[in-house]
Parts: sequence; C-alpha cells; structure tokens
Amino acid sequence: MGQVENRMIKAAGLAGVVAGDTAISTVGKEGLDLNYRGYSIGDLAEHSTFEEVAYLLIYGKLPNLSELDIYRRKLVGLRDMPRELKVSLEQLPSGAHPMDVLRTGVSVLGCLEVEMEFGDVREHADRLVGCLGSMLVYWYHFSRTGKRISLVSEETTVAGYFLDLLSGETPTDKHRRCMDVSLILYAEHEFNASTFAARVVTSTMSDYYSAIAGGIGALRGPLHGGANEKAMELIEQFTTADEAERELRAIFERKEKVMGFGHRVYRDSDPRSDIIKAWSRELSGGSEKAYLYPVSERIEKVMWDEKRIFPNLDFYSASAYHYCGVPTEMFTPLFVMSRVAGWSAHIIEERGVGKLIRPSAEYTGPQPKSYQPIEKRS
Ligand code: SDX
Repeated sequence: MGQVENRMIKAAGLAGVVAGDTAISTVGKEGLDLNYRGYSIGDLAEHSTFEEVAYLLIYGKLPNLSELDIYRRKLVGLRDMPRELKVSLEQLPSGAHPMDVLRTGVSVLGCLEVEMEFGDVREHADRLVGCLGSMLVYWYHFSRTGKRISLVSEETTVAGYFLDLLSGETPTDKHRRCMDVSLILYAEHEFNASTFAARVVTSTMSDYYSAIAGGIGALRGPLHGGANEKAMELIEQFTTADEAERELRAIFERKEKVMGFGHRVYRDSDPRSDIIKAWSRELSGGSEKAYLYPVSERIEKVMWDEKRIFPNLDFYSASAYHYCGVPTEMFTPLFVMSRVAGWSAHIIEERGVGKLIRPSAEYTGPQPKSYQPIEKRS
C-alpha cells in the first residue's frame, strides 16, 4: 500500500488507509456487525466464553466440547511461571505501572522461552493467554506485601482465575461472567494501533515476544487502551449526575477530550459498548458506589447531545471493572490479557504476508545546507 498509480497517498494517522488484508475480524464494514472470523460479537458475548474466543482467534475455528475441555486444561497448566520470571517481577517497584510490568514480564519470558526458528507460534500464544494474569497479580501482591502468592486456583477460566488471584476469594458468578464477557469484547479489533504495531514488528521477521511487547507499548496510551483508566478517573470524581454534567461542560470549555468516547472507525456507536454497559448497570445494583452508573449515563447523554460523540468499549468497562473489584491501574492490563489472543492471530496472519511494512514520509525539514567544520560554527 502507499503508492497508487505512482501517486503517493498521505493520510494523517493513516486514517482511512487500507494497510492490508485480514480474515480475522470486520470492524465498521457496511452491512456487517463486528465479527471475529465470521461470528458476530453479540452472539459471542452472549453464548461463548473467552477461552472459546481465544481458540477461535488463535486456531481459526470454534472448538468443540472436547477441544475446549483440552484447551482449558492446557491453559491451566500454563499458569505457573519460571522461577527467573518470578524473581524478575519481584525486583519491580510497587509504584510501577502494571502495563510496564506486563511489558517487562513478556520480555523476560521471551528470553527464557525463546521462540526458536519461529516454531509453532500458537504454543507461545497459549502460554501468554495462560500466564499474563499470573504475572500481573503475582507482582501486584509481592510488591505490596512481600508475599509470594500461590498460582494454584480451582477456577478453570482466565476470568475466574484473575479475580480469584486478585482478591484471594472465589468470585461471584456475576463478577466472573462480567469479566469473561469483557475479555470476549476486548479480544480483537482489526488494525487498531496496538495490533498494527505488533504487525509492524512481525513484518521485520522479528520474534513473537517482541511483537507482543510492541503491542503492549502501543496499547498503554490513553488514546488507545489506556482510555479505560482515564474514564474511571473521570467518573469517580462525582457522586451525582448533575455534578458530572457541570464538570463535563467545563471540560468542553477547556477543549479537552473525554476519554472513553469516540472512535477512529465507528461513526455512530461502538457495538461493544451497550453489551458492557448492561453489565455495568447489572453490577451497580449490589454496589455501595451504585451512583457511578447514573453518573456514567449522564456523561454519555451530554456527550451525545452536545457533541454527537458516543462511548467506546472503554467507557462502561471502567465502571464494570470497578464493580468487579479491580483496581483502576489494572484496567488496561486486562485489555492486554484479552487482546493477546487477537495480536497472536494477527502475528500469525502477518507472517503469511511476509512483506516488510515501511511507509514513506513527506519531508518538512530544511533545504540542503553546506557543512561547516566545527571550528567555523558560531
Ligand atoms: C480503543 O482503533 C481501535 O479499534 C481501538 C479500539 C480497539 O478495540 O482496539 O477500539 C480500542 O482504543 C478505543 C478508543 C479509546 N480512546 C479514547 O477513548 C480516547 C478519546 N477518544 C479520542 O481521542 C478519539 O475519538 C480517538 C483517538 C479514539 C479517535 O480519534 P481520531 O479518529 O483521530 O479523531 P479526532 O481525534 O481527530 O477527532 C475528530 C473530532 C475532533 O473534533 P474537531 O477538531 O473536528 O472539532 O472529534 C472530536 C475531536 O476533538 N473528538 C472528541 C473526542 N473524540 C473525538 N472530542 C472530545 N472527546 C473525545 N473523546
């Protein structure tokens, strides 16, 4: 891409540029829902589990009952981490951002379980699906209490395991399922910035772990995955919807962006938002911070009435995660734990393309100048 009939095309932020083919998902295509390998996000969120979706993305088809059972057991068996990785995580300070911890953990694992000659990348993908939650929560507890938690859990799902490790208690069915649905929703989204970053790294014939570390770095920023944490920081300032509306109008005056709203591809709505919004509403019922839900709804209403801008997946994920008892700084890492499935699918697909991604730039620097020996420079 980049050259059409010898004409260079230019688009800030690559907006509207078709940068390649994918058979993994459709985002914002006329007449098509968001789907993963042909299955609509509504069906997946209602009927499937994150493990089925990870299998679908990584292996290309939905598993049958026995394949899913084997896959779940495999992921459970991949939860424990090498001693060297635990020791590395123990060196990281409690003030580190958990996204930096995950990026570091992935790099360390890439040194220990080197991707030899690009063997079956799916083994490495399953490894990360199985153990990213372990990395995150092991570091979280050790850095705060000095305690080396056990990574053994009765929970058989990625969602339940994470919640169990985090709180040390068996999660409720509702919390487990909300987490599961959110992991389904976050798992894949075509050529978003972090997936594209992972594909760029892959296109140089680099290794799997480098591509994932690149994806984590890109996801961290508030214009992308980091928006769910910023959305939480906004809504938790308020206890009433009226307060939220007043501050939102002040934000408009200051011409600031409201994180968790808008999207590069979608124009009217993000199909994932209503699904996680319903979970936020459901869980608000039993919470002492029930007011966060009406606060969020008012922000959504004012954003639409005044700006015609809609919430993306990140906005209601914030309150839903909060109601599940997840600390705010773990919101974007949860996005990683899920999106690793989509990134892996794209890494596999990009390897099949085998073409270096290397666009051009328009030069805006100075005209050619004569070189002055250093003693003659003023
Ligand atoms: C994700 O790409 C993906 O698929 C990503 C994702 C995935 O699953 O991988 O869906 C996950 O990253 C969701 C997005 C999370 N980011 C945020 O919530 C950050 C806030 N949103 C925005 O900054 C913005 O909407 C972007 C970055 C998401 C998209 O930006 P674009 O396409 O570059 O559009 P823009 O910033 O140029 O905005 C166009 C107009 C501007 O107004 P004008 O200058 O034309 O008057 O819309 C306004 C913007 O100011 N605008 C907003 C806004 N989003 C757009 N104004 C206030 N608040 C916002 N959130």
